[in-house]
Amino acid sequence: MAVEEVPVLTIDGPSGAGKGAVSAAVARALGWHALDSGAVYRSIALAALERAVAPEDESALVALARSVHLTFRAGADGIDVYLDDRDVGDSLRTEAVSVMASRVAAIPALRAALLELQRAYRRRPGLVADGRDMGTIVFPDAGLKVFLEASVEERAKRRYKQLKEKGESVMLSRLFRDMQARDRRDRERAVAPTVPATDAVVVDSTRLSLKEVVEHVVGLARQRFGELAPKETNQ
Ligand code: C5P
Repeated sequence: MAVEEVPVLTIDGPSGAGKGAVSAAVARALGWHALDSGAVYRSIALAALERAVAPEDESALVALARSVHLTFRAGADGIDVYLDDRDVGDSLRTEAVSVMASRVAAIPALRAALLELQRAYRRRPGLVADGRDMGTIVFPDAGLKVFLEASVEERAKRRYKQLKEKGESVMLSRLFRDMQARDRRDRERAVAPTVPATDAVVVDSTRLSLKEVVEHVVGLARQRFGELAPKETNQ
């Protein structure tokens, strides 16, 4: 099977819409690989923060993106991310890294430097890729493109719950404001803005449970990909 024949399902959308959890569950149900492109941007952001590279320093960021070694390995509960062989899972989710990721992600040269790395995840039997520009820029020929939305209030609440469960002290009003600002930056930036591809199916998860969204997307995948999206599931 040539690489362009390997089926791809993209799941794009704003922060907190549930892309990560939905993508992981859909990939598991189909037995496909998963690419969390947000984790790619977050890893670069973490490396930049640790090495005191400024978000304005384009060439240093591009050099950083070319020099770091990123690996994703299936762990006990989800995908573990290794930055230069160090498990960075927990450090990627802090607010400082979220803000830095959104800033560095607005740099065209950095996005270009990360294209090939992301496309290399397209491997048999198939790939579920989640992010902002998976369906528009990275995999424009994907066989199924989903754009997952939810109201900003609902997304801030979900994030608040997640952080609380991890013992982080946060304020809902602050999260709401940060999320609105980040949404605006991601949606209005000149390169790869967070907008649905013209051929994307828009799914609003505001009033749906994770399970309902996963079932819906797996159903769409089975319709679209037929026998390439096998029935056997261990969700
Ligand atoms: O999805 P997640 O919140 O982990 O992404 C972190 C940041 O990385 C986002 O705020 C966004 O700016 C950026 N990102 C992006 N393109 C992607 C995935 C993430 O610009 N494909």
